[in-house]
Amino acid sequence: MDSFDWNRIAAACVISCGILFGSWLISKIMIPYSPLTSSVYASENQETIDLKTADIGKGKIIASQQCGVCHSFRQGEPDKIGPSLFNIKNKKIASSPNFNYSSSLKIHENEYWTVENLNKWLAKPLAFAPATLMAYGGLSSNKDRADVIAYLNSLTDNNPPSGQK
Ligand code: HEC
Repeated sequence: MDSFDWNRIAAACVISCGILFGSWLISKIMIPYSPLTSSVYASENQETIDLKTADIGKGKIIASQQCGVCHSFRQGEPDKIGPSLFNIKNKKIASSPNFNYSSSLKIHENEYWTVENLNKWLAKPLAFAPATLMAYGGLSSNKDRADVIAYLNSLTDNNPPSGQK
C-alpha cells in the first residue's frame, strides 16, 4: 500500500463519520426528545377523543353513576370526597380553595383542565398523578370519556372560565 491508498482510506473514514454524525443530527431534529410520561400516555392512550360527536346526556348518566359518589356537579354544592366539578372547564388544576389536594395532583397546579388534560386524567388517573387521592381506576372507553368530558364542560355558569380571561 502506498501513501495514496492511506490517504483514500483516511478520506473514506472522515466521510463516513461525517455521514454518521449528519444522520444522527437529522434524527435528533426530526424526533425531538420526549419525556417518559408523554410516551406512556402515547402508548396507553393513543386514541384521541372527539367531542363533536359526544353525547352530554349519556355523559351525565355515566358521571352520576361513576363520579357522583365522590363529586358534586351543581353550583353551590359542597365538595364531597373529591372537589366539586362545577365550572371545571379550563379551571386551574387543583385550585378549589377549600379542598386538600394530594401533592401529586398539585404538581399540575400551573396547568388547566383542558380537554386534553381531562382526557389523560380520566383515562388513567394514576398515570397523570401517580399518588393521587382519587381512588378511581379510570374510564377506558374513549366514547364514554368523550361523553363525560362534554358533560363536565357543560357545567358552567357562562362566566369566562378561570384562567381564560
Ligand atoms: C372514590 C372517589 C372518587 C371517584 C369515584 C371519582 N373521583 Fe375525581 N377526585 C376524587 C378525589 C379525592 C380527587 C382529588 C385528587 C387529588 O387531590 O389527588 C379528585 C379529583 C378530580 C378532579 C380534579 C379536580 C380539581 O379541582 O382539580 C377531576 C376533574 C375529577 N376528579 C373528575 C372525576 C370524574 C369525571 C370522575 C368519574 C369518571 C371521578 N372524578 C371519579 C375522588 C373521586
